[in-house]
Amino acid sequence: MTAVMKAVRLHEFGGPEVLHYEDAPRPTPGTGEVLVRVHAASINPPDLYLRDGYRTLPPQWRPSPTFPLIPGTDIAGVIVAAGEGVRHFQVGDDVYAMVRFPQDLMKGSGAYAEYICVADDELALIPPGIDYVHAAAAPMSLLTAWQFLVDTGHDAPNPFQSFPHVPVALEGKTVLVNGAGGGVGHLAVQVARWKGARVIAVASGKHEALLRELGASEFIDYTRQAAETVVQSVDLVIDAVGGTNVERFLNIIRPGGALYLVNPLGFAGQSEADLRGIIVSSTQVRSSGQQLQEAGQLLSSGLLRVVTDSTYHLFDAAAAHERASKGRIQGKIVLRVN
Ligand SMILES: NC(=O)c1ccc[n+]([C@@H]2O[C@H](COP(=O)([O-])OP(=O)(O)OC[C@H]3O[C@@H](n4cnc5c(N)ncnc54)[C@H](OP(=O)(O)O)[C@@H]3O)[C@@H](O)[C@H]2O)c1
Repeated sequence: MTAVMKAVRLHEFGGPEVLHYEDAPRPTPGTGEVLVRVHAASINPPDLYLRDGYRTLPPQWRPSPTFPLIPGTDIAGVIVAAGEGVRHFQVGDDVYAMVRFPQDLMKGSGAYAEYICVADDELALIPPGIDYVHAAAAPMSLLTAWQFLVDTGHDAPNPFQSFPHVPVALEGKTVLVNGAGGGVGHLAVQVARWKGARVIAVASGKHEALLRELGASEFIDYTRQAAETVVQSVDLVIDAVGGTNVERFLNIIRPGGALYLVNPLGFAGQSEADLRGIIVSSTQVRSSGQQLQEAGQLLSSGLLRVVTDSTYHLFDAAAAHERASKGRIQGKIVLRVN
């Protein structure tokens, strides 16, 4: 008889109401995989895009997966079984991961569940002193900040551009982080600070105290002032918002500087960037246990901190997605799975 577990599954695309908490088959680990009893899972924008069927993409790019599917990529929990060939982890280890991303981008990696199978090279031990909720909050946002600002850590083709993304040295540089209060943004602020940059954070006013505490030396409330009217000659802008008019940041970057687009879709400023001698670059985050292990040491020592906006029980995933859609997120939204 197939073992069952509780999971949140989609049987169709749509709003938060299509997230159903129900019984699902418990997966079994294959070669090189472990089975993790999930204690917490966090929410990331791709979970919402998938739930919606990637409606904003042109029809030919939208997914047509086999339903039901289980969304979510980021988990923290304990290993309860290991398949053949798992060398670095054992039953009982507390681990966290961003699972099968971007491989399962269009069908869901299965994190909104009591159990998930994870390849051992995507896993890291939860850093000492970090609980399941904060460990689950970290993976995608932390790996994104890391792969943009420190090291991509892989040589897979970059789906967003013809050349590889190469992080610039940040020591002594001025870095502006747009969208600084969100999942990626609040970690980008800290990673840039840790790499020796002076950081200007751009976010709505409610995030000011937190972002100064996390290392921003200047703060701009974008609801009161447009960053491009008060800042000049920065070395790097990392934009963790996207949408319209990101091109405006080209006006505040010095020649030879860079603009990193965490969400590059729709950027229309390439010719102007070329004229001004500004590098525009993006990359797609990829699962990496090794990088989580490395960055995890900074979480443990307190040099980086993952902030949680709110927590919900797994059966309330729909409410968590409603919260995510409202915006003004400070850090990460996390699902508790026990
Ligand atoms: N390239 C990749 O592989 C990759 C990886 C991860 C994420 N992403 C993309 O990166 C983006 C950010 O992801 P996330 O996880 O950080 O999302 P998030 O947690 O939802 O954060 C977005 C933040 O943007 C702020 N914001 C909204 N409108 C703004 C504006 N006009 N100006 C400045 N800030 C604004 C929001 O708060 P306030 O409005 O209160 O300031 C919020 O804190 C998403 O588009 C996501 O799809 C890409």
